[in-house]
Amino acid sequence: MISIIPFILIHTLFYVGYSDDQPLTTTLPQSPTLFLPPFHIYHQISKPYSSYEPLEESKRRSPPPRRRSPPPPPRRRSPPPPPPRIRSPPPPPPRIRSPPPPPPRIRSPPPPPPRIRSPPPPPPSPPPPPPSPPPPPPSPSPSPPPPSPPPPPPPLSFDHFVLSQTWPPTYCKIKNNKCVSPEPLKFVIHGLWPSKKDTLIQDCDEKIIDVNDLEPLMEELNEDWPALFENDNQTEANIQLWVDQWNGHGTCSVELFEFVPYFEETLNVYHRNSIKDILIENDINPGGTFPKEIILNAIHTHILFMPQLRCKRINDTDYLFEIRLCLTASVELEYKDCDTPYSGCHNEDVYF
Ligand SMILES: *[C@@H]1O[C@H](CO)[C@@H](O)[C@H](O)[C@H]1NC(C)=O
Ligand SMILES: *[C@@H]1O[C@H](CO)[C@@H](O)[C@H](O)[C@H]1NC(C)=O
Repeated sequence: MISIIPFILIHTLFYVGYSDDQPLTTTLPQSPTLFLPPFHIYHQISKPYSSYEPLEESKRRSPPPRRRSPPPPPRRRSPPPPPPRIRSPPPPPPRIRSPPPPPPRIRSPPPPPPRIRSPPPPPPSPPPPPPSPPPPPPSPSPSPPPPSPPPPPPPLSFDHFVLSQTWPPTYCKIKNNKCVSPEPLKFVIHGLWPSKKDTLIQDCDEKIIDVNDLEPLMEELNEDWPALFENDNQTEANIQLWVDQWNGHGTCSVELFEFVPYFEETLNVYHRNSIKDILIENDINPGGTFPKEIILNAIHTHILFMPQLRCKRINDTDYLFEIRLCLTASVELEYKDCDTPYSGCHNEDVYF
């Protein structure tokens, strides 16, 4: 009689829960099996992953288990008491089995090694504490991240780059031909210059540099970024030009390009397009006079952005001696329009 009461209570709880809230049905039937909390918890946790279909299945399946599970446990649990009585006789065999226990004892010795290993763990545990001290700093660091965003603004003391390329034949003419001989017959790099509006940002904090770091780029630099003024030692003159360019300009964009990357990226963007090839493709050949607008449009059409032509007037002739390409103030160095298409080119025609 007494055992039936809990059974009725369980059923009452079960039906109340089932009628009130369906989701609870999956947990309520298990309430009688509270002795298995791990499974109970796992089942609850697994619910979210079961999505919609499992829910329907669980509703259909859950009813049977409820009816089956409640009855069996009570009925079987009541009988179990007898079995213990039956087990009471077997005690003798346990006595026979008692001898085997000793082996476990022999196995117990191995535990000591674990103990030996356990001592090492303690030492490791002391190290953890040191790491733990760092964690505190990290926790403060989360707050610093906000400060990190501010840094970006300061570095940008410039809003674009200028890739300046010199046309040696006219450059040397306006310099009274005091140039290397023979002069290169292609546009060569003068420099990559961080700029703001129409102003070059120059002569920033110099860093200690080692020109030998440029060794992997030397061949390319000598070819594309040579000193044009006549000199006794072209290698030394070139190195001097690069160092001057770095000190005068590269130091101002160090937030984007360190020493070697500054030269690597300058070479890269220089090789993106050959201005001489663009002009020749448009029948603008060296040694002639051309409408400056034709030259400008040829480049503009090819790279899709406005360059800047720079001229020097001598004897009423505008000599086109330099072409600049404007680039974003970013490591990608994307083309962008130059604000001023001409500088010093007063005539309609320019000598190229
Ligand atoms: C030019 O200068 C470089 C570096 O100082 C040196 O190694 C080389 O021997 C010089 N060349 C000549 C022809 O003097
Ligand atoms: C400019 O004219 C002067 C005088 O006629 C001449 O000596 C000089 O070579 C000319 N310059 C150029 C670049 O043609």
